[in-house]
Amino acid sequence: MLSFEDEGKMNGIAGLALKPQSAFVPAAGPTQERFAAGNAFRRITVDDKRIINSRADVNQLVPFKYKWAWDKYLSACANHWMPQEINMSRDIALWKDPNGLTADERRVVTRNLGFFVTADSLAANNIVLGTYRHITAPECRQYLLRQAFEEAIHTHAYQYIVESLDLDEGEVFNAYNEITSIRDKDEFLIPFIDTLTDPGFRTGTPESDQALLRSLIVFSCLMEGLFFYVGFVQILSLGRQNKMTGSAEQYMYILRDESMHCNFGIDLVNQIKLENPHLWTPRFREELHDLFRRAVDLEYRYAEDTMPRGVLGLNAPMFKEYLRFIANRRCQQIGLDTLYPGASNPFPWMSEMIDLKKERNFFETRVIEYQTGGALNWD
Ligand SMILES: [Fe+2]
Ligand SMILES: [Fe+2]
Repeated sequence: MLSFEDEGKMNGIAGLALKPQSAFVPAAGPTQERFAAGNAFRRITVDDKRIINSRADVNQLVPFKYKWAWDKYLSACANHWMPQEINMSRDIALWKDPNGLTADERRVVTRNLGFFVTADSLAANNIVLGTYRHITAPECRQYLLRQAFEEAIHTHAYQYIVESLDLDEGEVFNAYNEITSIRDKDEFLIPFIDTLTDPGFRTGTPESDQALLRSLIVFSCLMEGLFFYVGFVQILSLGRQNKMTGSAEQYMYILRDESMHCNFGIDLVNQIKLENPHLWTPRFREELHDLFRRAVDLEYRYAEDTMPRGVLGLNAPMFKEYLRFIANRRCQQIGLDTLYPGASNPFPWMSEMIDLKKERNFFETRVIEYQTGGALNWD
């Protein structure tokens, strides 16, 4: 066991026990090996960097190796927004009006919030307590920090809608315990989140690296990339009919963020595959296909539960096609064979929504430019 003093000497900085890696990063090997003579003070090059199991100092952002991650970090910052910037007064009036919305439309809103008010906390915890520790590329960590804050903003946005509409908080925030179709989705996700947040979990073996990769794929492709989409389509459909336009605008900003989270996760997965091709075995791919099928099934059951009848020109069977279309797309994005040949997109307008620029006047609510530290005024 090294004394504090010895450790300082090993770093060549007497009295300072600086370690090249944060204590949370899985150790790359015995300490002596990492600080071996000739290697101890060599400056980091891009070749030293790896997405997982890197030996390079995670505190040194540059030299950049993963430019895509840094670019996403910059884009995410440029898209900054806050829930209070969006005018909710029309939503409040409509919700209070007994004839403002049908019972089925109200069910869509409350079920939706029931899923999302806790989903983004699960996402944030997964990033902060799990994923972040195991990703050893500082550019990717930089993006994850931004993503974690965005998840906080999303939870804030959902809470802001609940508060604006004066909904029963206890009912909405407990929906993930009390509503079967929501609980089933979360129960599917939680084992994969638990893997990453387990304090004893370390990458570095083929099995543990596969466990990490599996959890990353479930998180980005199935949670952020599939489980959010029935809800997004429903609320944005309300907005397209000029109903709940403030809530719909909140969801549009969230959708834009989430599509970037999903794409970042997919880039991360593909880079890990590239650096660790031995992980991508036929058996692993088959296991992933099973997870994709289960997720499509769970999200479809959620669609049926939230839309027992047709509402807003939508119905559950349309979502069967949509979910298959999205699942195929996610499979393609990570290099898996598609599962549902010929599935098409019944909601082509959704892709336009994802690409919208912030400056656009969504749903006739006001246009605002984000002002750092500036006061916001309603026109
Ligand atoms: Fe989110
Ligand atoms: Fe997200």
